[in-house]
Amino acid sequence: MSRIKIAIAGKGGAGKTTICATLARLLARAGHEVVAIDGDSNPNLGPALGVTAGEGLPGFLPTSLVARRFEGPRLTESVDVVLDRFATVAPDGVRLVRMGAPEHADDGCLCSAHATVSALMADLDTEGRYVTLLDLEASPEHLSRGTARNADVLLLVAEPYFRSLEAARLQASLAAETAIGRVAVVANKCRSANDHDAIAEFCDRHRLELVGRIPFSESVLDADAAGRPLVEFDGDGAVVAAVAELADRLLPGGAAGAAEPETAAGEPIGEVV
Ligand SMILES: Nc1ncnc2c1ncn2[C@@H]1O[C@H](COP(=O)(O)OP(=O)(O)O)[C@@H](O)[C@H]1O
Ligand SMILES: [Mg+2]
Repeated sequence: MSRIKIAIAGKGGAGKTTICATLARLLARAGHEVVAIDGDSNPNLGPALGVTAGEGLPGFLPTSLVARRFEGPRLTESVDVVLDRFATVAPDGVRLVRMGAPEHADDGCLCSAHATVSALMADLDTEGRYVTLLDLEASPEHLSRGTARNADVLLLVAEPYFRSLEAARLQASLAAETAIGRVAVVANKCRSANDHDAIAEFCDRHRLELVGRIPFSESVLDADAAGRPLVEFDGDGAVVAAVAELADRLLPGGAAGAAEPETAAGEPIGEVV
C-alpha cells in the first residue's frame, strides 16, 4: 500500500498548486518520500516546488507508458522505473512528474495524457512508501475521465465565495460516485472569521468535511512574484503553519509518522514490550 494518495482539486485560482507544493515540501521535510504529480495540462507545480525550467523540469510522462487493462489504465513499467526515468528531484527530495500538455495547436484531446496519471496513481498502490500528491486542473474532468479515481483523498480547495464553493460541491458529488474514500474541503484565502463561517456553514449544509482553514496572505502573492516557493519565502508565516496543520489532519497518524518502520503488509510495527 502507498501510505496515502491525495488529489487536490477545486476552481481555477483557488490555491491548489500553492497548497500542493507546500504540503509536498513540508511532508518531505518530515521524512516522507513524496511524489508530486503535476496533473494540470497547464503545468506550474514545478516552480511552486522550487524547480524551474533552467534547473531541468522533468519531461512529460509519455503516453506509451499506459497499458489499457480491464480494471483501467496501468503502467507498462514499475513505478520505481517510471520515477527513475521521468521524475525530477525537487528541493527537500520531492519527486516531481508531469502529465503531458499540448505541444502544438490542434494537437487534439488529452485523454492519453490523463491516462498516464491514472495509471501511475493506480500502480502507486503496490508500493509501500510514498505519499503522493496530485495537483489537478480546475475542470471536473479528472473525475469524469478517472484521472483521480485511485486517490484515497480528494482535497477540494475552496475560496469563500459562492461560485468557488459550488465548484467544490459539484466535484464532491461526482467523487461520491467513485471509490475515493474521503472527500474534504479546505478553505483558502480566508480574510476574516466571517469568511471561515461562510465556508463552514456551506460545508455543514452539504454534509462536506471541512478539514482546514488557510488565511489570505500577501506573502503568497509576493512569493509568486519573486518566483520562489512559499515554504522558502515565508516559512514561518501563517499560511505555511495552516498547511502544516492540514497535513496533520490528512495523514493517518499525523504528518510526523514518516519514520515508523512497517511490516511487509504495510502495517506499522507496534511497540515492543
Ligand atoms: N492563501 C493565499 N493567500 C493569498 N493568495 C493566495 C493564497 N493561496 C493562493 N494564492 C494566490 O492565488 C493565485 C492562484 O493560486 P494557485 O495555487 O496557482 O491556484 P490554482 O492552482 O488553484 O489555480 C496565485 O496568485 C496565488 O499566489
Ligand atoms: Mg494550479
